[in-house]
Amino acid sequence: MAALGAGWRAAGARGLLRRGPAPGLGPRRHRHKEKWAATAPRVPAPRLALHHFDASYSLQLQGLWPAARAALLCEPKHGALLNSFSALDRVARELELLNASDFVSEAPRKAAEEAGRGESRAQEGSAEGKTVARAERMSQAEMSPPPRASVTSNIRCYTFPRGDITRFRPARPDALGLLDYYLMDAASLLPVLALCVQPDDFVLDLCAAPGGKTLALLQTGLCGHLAANDISISRTKRLYQILQSYVPREVRETVSVTSHDGRDWQQLEGGTFHKVLVDVPCTTDRHSVTEVDNNIFHKRRTKERQMLPMLQLQLLMAGILATKPGGEVVYSTCSLSPLQNECVIERAVEVAGAQFDISVQVEDLSHFQLLFQDTFSFFPECRVGQLVLPHLTANFGPTYFCKLRRL
Ligand SMILES: C[S@@+](CC[C@H](N)C(=O)[O-])C[C@H]1O[C@@H](n2cnc3c(N)ncnc32)[C@H](O)[C@@H]1O
Repeated sequence: MAALGAGWRAAGARGLLRRGPAPGLGPRRHRHKEKWAATAPRVPAPRLALHHFDASYSLQLQGLWPAARAALLCEPKHGALLNSFSALDRVARELELLNASDFVSEAPRKAAEEAGRGESRAQEGSAEGKTVARAERMSQAEMSPPPRASVTSNIRCYTFPRGDITRFRPARPDALGLLDYYLMDAASLLPVLALCVQPDDFVLDLCAAPGGKTLALLQTGLCGHLAANDISISRTKRLYQILQSYVPREVRETVSVTSHDGRDWQQLEGGTFHKVLVDVPCTTDRHSVTEVDNNIFHKRRTKERQMLPMLQLQLLMAGILATKPGGEVVYSTCSLSPLQNECVIERAVEVAGAQFDISVQVEDLSHFQLLFQDTFSFFPECRVGQLVLPHLTANFGPTYFCKLRRL
């Protein structure tokens, strides 16, 4: 990030130097010194973001970058997270008539079908092919928890099939005034599914606003207690609005909403939660290449952007320290950057051991690729965790998520 910022400044300076008078031409008093800082054309933040991503993601994603880049610049797809506190079945029927389906409940069936197709391909193939397929199945079974058991089934989120870019109608209130669904990037649900909330779990959502994932956590109907925190008071207001619009008062009252700096959580309630979601601030890649407002690639925010991996590490450490021994943390971002994704995880595991004497284990989430390959495009080469790549046929994400268990 720093290198890119310097690169743009240098390019701007070079351009202006070329426009200035050549040394030795004309009397000195007629020469004027151009002030490049005041006159250099301002590079809009989205262009700067794209330039930065072109330099780094083309190396990381190689041949997959052009498709992800095109998708990032196009209209994203949405998922409709059904509101279980509203008239669920009526809305589900309406969406099914439009050819949308619940990607969460459909996932195990689709994964089984895909596995079946793989099997018949192997049977049609050579003996060697069959052996390889059998070995792959065995290692997959050894490595991954059974897919059906590993996602929380109460969450229902409808998406249109791959390649279908139909838009959902806006959410509507029911007779009690609660909205029927929440439109969100469907890939943002994956970190919540990975958390795998169990009945009566104490759950902390450390960076919760505006509240899409908090709402999804409530939809599981399993949280014994839910603490939703976000440092930003204005964004916390949006979280309150979402709770007001989707959740009945008696359930709302079980959620404690706070506005602390998440990095200080240890001093407030260390080691008390079964599950912690750490959905950190990041370069929000899709927003950064399309929107001028609130863009982290704006020149005046360079320092803040460069400090993001440090903030992310501190928040993840706070999440780990907030977890009971045996509890689990899911870390997530909406960036493709390995510096904000895998590197933060790897560093947190080191720091937990070296500075806090806490052993933390990265959990295997490879079964998510198997389960949700029909809905999302996954990057196959993450060192740890899973990454959903935007693609024009399935324009969700980017979403990175990784699960850690405190031992
Ligand atoms: C990616 S957003 C979270 C989105 C949210 N989880 C959702 O699904 O709607 C990151 C959030 O982190 C918050 N944040 C930034 N620094 C923080 C800190 N030190 N402590 C707690 N929250 C922080 C921001 O205000 C922002 O709302």
